[in-house]
Amino acid sequence: MLFMFLFALSWLLARAASMNLNVTAISARNGSSTLECWQMNTPFDNPTQPGLLGTAQSSLGATSSLSYSIAPPNQDRGLHNAPQKQWVAVLSGAVYITLPDDDTTDAYIFGGPFGLIFAADTEDISTKGHRTQHIGQTESVVFEIPTADGKVPEHHVLHLGPCDAGEIAGIRGYGLSAGS
Ligand SMILES: *[C@@H]1O[C@H](CO)[C@@H](O)[C@H](O)[C@H]1NC(C)=O
Ligand SMILES: *[C@@H]1O[C@H](CO)[C@@H](O)[C@H](O)[C@H]1NC(C)=O
Repeated sequence: MLFMFLFALSWLLARAASMNLNVTAISARNGSSTLECWQMNTPFDNPTQPGLLGTAQSSLGATSSLSYSIAPPNQDRGLHNAPQKQWVAVLSGAVYITLPDDDTTDAYIFGGPFGLIFAADTEDISTKGHRTQHIGQTESVVFEIPTADGKVPEHHVLHLGPCDAGEIAGIRGYGLSAGS
């Protein structure tokens, strides 16, 4: 009985440890904003409480507030810094991000399950910031979620440039398969 329990537990832990969330981040190096693919250090967890069984959950740390904003389509918001270290969740629409000091990389963020990014290029680390354009035919609806105390979530950098499709698509079907 105990053996069965330990076996099940270790299997669950192994599954939970097998997947980490990767997000595209706008960060900065040497005073210039960068696009980077970050992997969260805390892996997905498989909560056992009722209502969450069979889901996979990635804890993203403490946050300080939440705002809901709507930007019209085809709007260029120009160069700006992240106002604070914050998660940005694009719920609908599409956002195009470019960098003033590096034209070799850019990022399209589409609303939906892969619309989460982290913006870290506050003016203390980036002189010019980044450029955001709202593209497409519909308004972009965005959650802005600053972290508590200006903290950056524990992560390591997978590579420079945005995460590619293969690095974020791992969430497809993961919740159900992890719980079954
Ligand atoms: C950082 O930027 C300065 C000014 O643009 C430049 O002179 C220097 O070489 C850069 N250093 C690195 C490590 O890229
Ligand atoms: C994150 O990236 C790693 C390494 O490329 C990959 O194994 C993993 O499946 C990715 N996670 C998600 C949720 O796609």
